[in-house]
Amino acid sequence: MSTRAGDIYGVIGDPIEHSLSPQMHNAAFKKLGLNCIYLPFRVKPRYLKSAIMGMRALNIRGFNVTTPHKTAVVKFLCELDEAAQEVGAVNTIDNDEGRLVGYNTDGLGALKALQEKNEDPSGKSVVLIGAGGAARAIAFTLARRARSILILNRTQHRAVKLAEDIERKLGKKILARPLARDSLLQSLHDADILINATSVGMYPRIEQTVATRKVLHSGIVVFDIVYNPVKTLLLREAEAAGAKTITGVGMLVHQGAEAFKIWTNRSPPAEVMRRALMEELSGR
Ligand SMILES: NC(=O)c1ccc[n+]([C@@H]2O[C@H](COP(=O)([O-])OP(=O)(O)OC[C@H]3O[C@@H](n4cnc5c(N)ncnc54)[C@H](OP(=O)(O)O)[C@@H]3O)[C@@H](O)[C@H]2O)c1
Repeated sequence: MSTRAGDIYGVIGDPIEHSLSPQMHNAAFKKLGLNCIYLPFRVKPRYLKSAIMGMRALNIRGFNVTTPHKTAVVKFLCELDEAAQEVGAVNTIDNDEGRLVGYNTDGLGALKALQEKNEDPSGKSVVLIGAGGAARAIAFTLARRARSILILNRTQHRAVKLAEDIERKLGKKILARPLARDSLLQSLHDADILINATSVGMYPRIEQTVATRKVLHSGIVVFDIVYNPVKTLLLREAEAAGAKTITGVGMLVHQGAEAFKIWTNRSPPAEVMRRALMEELSGR
């Protein structure tokens, strides 16, 4: 569906004040000369259904969905794309004349963030830390490409559940273990890519890391999807170990750019979106 003048977009979550999506999408609308606006909406869980009904009633053309609504919103939508179905969570809703379609662009965003740094995961051995919403999206996307994926999570049963879901849906065997220093040390020895998809190291707990330089090495690429701060303690530890690092900004840009494409059918100005994000992040 093409974007008309005056269309309204937004992001729903609780809290929402921290969201960088308004800056990113409004910069993209401005760059393309689209008379659209993107707003943050704080929606408490008990009002989620009303918010989605309101989206339809007010003809809000698109929403991004963030914590804590990514899974809960699914039951209020008419249809899900393949990625959202697999992951069981939605980060983008398109309002196609009252038909609300849910998408999940996080996995593709992560893939593009790796690819733009010349680190395509095809045929690679990946260690993924985390089993929450973002980790699920990344795991499904990478499972189609990587040679192997090992999922490590603090709560082991969530890692096992994710591995089982992938095996059932994609027929690919995925290993799952509890997150511990020993399992990290062992698994990182032969890994090509380490991805932190937990919230460890995110502002305000910036002194935390899932791995230190002692378990990292120069033969590994370390990708931290946390984007605030841009250079997390994990990435600083990885640099100290001589490893190549990738920040969470690329994923944020690309998941947003994919949503923009779904809503507007236009090629998203990814570099403008990245600049808007970096400006906002450096001011924080
Ligand atoms: N760059 C991007 O575009 C992008 C996109 C989406 C999300 N993110 C970021 O990714 C992070 C995760 O988001 P999410 O939506 O997946 O969150 P989520 O669904 O709440 O999952 C949180 C994950 O972090 C783990 N975790 C939390 N605290 C921990 C701790 N102290 N020690 C070890 N593990 C811990 C959880 O483990 P348990 O299962 O044991 O609780 C779980 O695996 C957030 O920082 C978010 O901002 C970035």
